[in-house]
Order: sequence, then structure tokens, then C-alpha cells
Amino acid sequence: MSVLKNGKSGESYNISASNEIDNLEVVYGILKILNKSEKLIKFVSSRPGEDTRYSLDSTKIRRELGWEPKISFDEGIKKTIEWYQENKEWGANTSDEVYNETPWENKSWDNNMKGIILHGGHGTRLRPLTHTGPKQLLPIANKPMSQFCLEAISETGITDIAIVIGGVGSNKVREYYGNGEKFGVKITYIEQDEPRGIAHAVRLCKEFVNDEKFLVFLGDNIIQKSIIDFVENFKNSDYDATVLLCEVDNPSRFGIADVENDNIIKITEKPKNPKSNLAVTGIYLLTPIIFEIIDKLKPSWRNELEITDALDNLLKQNNNISFERITDYWKDTGTPEDIIHANGEIIRKMLENSGANEDQMFGTDTVIESNVKIINPVIIGNNCHISSGSSIGPNVSVGDNTTISISSIENSIIMKNCKI
Ligand code: DAU
Repeated sequence: MSVLKNGKSGESYNISASNEIDNLEVVYGILKILNKSEKLIKFVSSRPGEDTRYSLDSTKIRRELGWEPKISFDEGIKKTIEWYQENKEWGANTSDEVYNETPWENKSWDNNMKGIILHGGHGTRLRPLTHTGPKQLLPIANKPMSQFCLEAISETGITDIAIVIGGVGSNKVREYYGNGEKFGVKITYIEQDEPRGIAHAVRLCKEFVNDEKFLVFLGDNIIQKSIIDFVENFKNSDYDATVLLCEVDNPSRFGIADVENDNIIKITEKPKNPKSNLAVTGIYLLTPIIFEIIDKLKPSWRNELEITDALDNLLKQNNNISFERITDYWKDTGTPEDIIHANGEIIRKMLENSGANEDQMFGTDTVIESNVKIINPVIIGNNCHISSGSSIGPNVSVGDNTTISISSIENSIIMKNCKI
């Protein structure tokens, strides 16, 4: 009314109550008034260029037209909510989908098989890279390596996943994966005070697992093939455990299975004189029987409760373990060389899947100047700048917000925010 009566033609006025408040604060305020849980807030990714803060400057209308808001922002929002509550039929057809939604953590997760990702350990072999964070968050093809495990698990239909955390920067794991909503799964965190062994970490998950079959995935194992069939076969079997075996060149670095006539007869952790080259990979399909066996385990020479010892004892007890072979790419990323190798392989596979459409391998707002040589496989993140005269690849990933000038880079992982 004030503008209609007193405004000058051709002018524009911002009518606001001089409030500078961000969207989230408004949402918190509304939930408080309604006495509802903050867990109802659902975060969605914002559109490019979207503001997080809307600030309207009302100085001009106040000064020139002498307009003053009659009530404060807080009072206004309260009145608005009251009005909506009294006039429910007015908004009856608008969506209340999110308002009535059950918080992510409280949803019913009724598929019965559960998944566990081991995300603890000290990562000593990867120092100094692991001085400030867990090794399983180191990027492969610009994604934390444990995310490949999570995606492989969720692809099988398992959506109830525990992540065992402990050691340096375990809060970073919580920060990254949150409650799992971003990844379409429900995540429970289980703390391990010290890296007392894989079997110890698995034992901590007894309550989580309840009485069902379950899958354990070591967060530093990378596999390219889907594990759907392995999981389905195990679900439909009567085996107490299924292990996935893969041929390796350096068997003394792994848990090794001796196989005779298509049966595993023994499993040994890092044998000095390996009888086979079949490594027990870090993907285990188990039943709760394993917990009873772990309870009777003694620590090994490296002072850990070994999952291989537990499996070997299970073999001795009832010989009811089956195995499947991984014939595609599998890697335990124990050393920097392993990580670099996995990086190259995964990017190569991504490139194959993209139909060799190179552009898909470069992020948004990334500038690659002319006269830059890209030797695939290469992946480059968002908002990067590669200046003319550089050669990138093969087997290189470049993290977001990185600038590279006149450099030649091959077989490397360049993290985020680097300047080279
Ligand atoms: O990758 C396959 C190999 O993994 C198997 O062949 C071996 O039998 C098995 O013992 C394991 O050997 P590693 O020596 O490579 O395990 P590492 O200590 O690296 O731990 C594997 C993962 O489990 C790693 O992501 C850290 C996590 N972990 C490890 C321990 C000991 C935990 O979360 N808690 C722990 O206490």
C-alpha cells in the first residue's frame, strides 16, 4: 500500500524486514515452532549458481517512503504457520511428502542381509598419506576408495550397512558418508578402539548383524566385477561362509587358501612358504557362527585376531566353507604402487563404459587449454585449469579445483586443490 500511495514511478523498492537469515535457519525456526525433529530436514544438492542467502535491503523504502514493517520476521513466520494450521484445507493438495516422511535413520530396512565395511586400522604402510586421515578415503578415480565398496554392496540390494571406524581421522568418515542417505543406504557407525584385527572388528558387529547372513568388505579392497552373483549364491546356500579367491603374484602378502579337488583344505595368513597363489580377498560372506569362533581365537604373531584363523577354525570345525574365484581385476591397495595401479585400472574401465567419450571424464567448469596432450586413461575433476604445454596421462586422476601449468604428469593421483 505504501508503494502504491507514495512510490515514485519507475522506481523499485525492496520490501523486507531487514532480515538477513539463511534458508536453513528459517527451516530450523519453523521446526521449532511446530515442535518437530530437525531430522525431518532433507538436504538436496543445490543448483549451480544458487544462493544460500537471500538478503533484501529495505533501506530505500524506509528512507524514502517512511515504511516500517509492523512485525518482526520471527513473529511473521509464527503467524504464517498459525494461519496454515487454521486453514488446512487451503493447502490440502500441496505435497506434504517430506513433512510426513520418516527420518532416514528410522526407516524400516527390511532386507535381511547386512553389510559391513572395515574402515579402521592405522594405514601405516601408506604414511605420510595417512597421517591426517584414513587410507580408505584416499581417492581412486577421484572418489574415496571405500565408496567403491559401499557401491558394490548397495548394488547387491544390501542397504543396511555398518562402517567400522577407528584410528586417525575417523570423524572424516562420518562426515563423508553421514547417515548414508546420499548413497541410498542406511549407515551405522561402530567404533573400534584399536586395530586389533579384522576378526576383532567383525566381532564388534555381532549385535548389528543380529541373526542373519552378512557380508564383510575390507575398505581398502577394490574389485571391478559386480558381487551380485556371489551374494545371491551365498544367500541361497547352506554354507557357513563363502570366500572369494583371486590369483596373486606375491602370495606371502595375503591370506592364502590351499585348494584340493575343488575344496579349501587350509587357510593361512601371510604364509612364508605359500602352497598356492590363491589369495583370500577382503570380501567375506559369513553367518553368525563366525562370532562363536572369533570368541575362542587367540591373537596372531602380529597381535591381531585374524579372520583367516577364524575361517581356518571354521573349516576344521565343520568343513562348510565354499569359495568363488575372482578372475577380473581385484586389488588390495596396501602400498602406494597398488593405489596408483588401481587408479589407472578404474579410470580405464570408466573410459570404456563411457564409450571412449573423453568429455565425460572432465568435470564441470574445467578448462583444458589447446595444446594440452591428454594420454588416456585420465580423469579430471571440476573447476580445474590445465594450461597449454602440459601433458597429462596415462593413468592420471586430477582432483577438483586443481591448476596445472606446463607439466608432464603420468601414473599419478593429484588430489583436490593442488597447484602444479
Ligand atoms: O586384502 C586382502 C587381505 O586383507 C587378506 O588376504 C588377508 O587375509 C587379510 O588379513 C587382510 O590383510 P592385510 O594385512 O592387507 O589387512 P590390513 O591390516 O591392511 O586391514 C585390512 C582392512 O581392514 C583395512 O581397510 C583396515 C581394516 N582394519 C584392519 C584391522 C587390522 C580394521 O578396520 N580394523 C583392524 O583392526
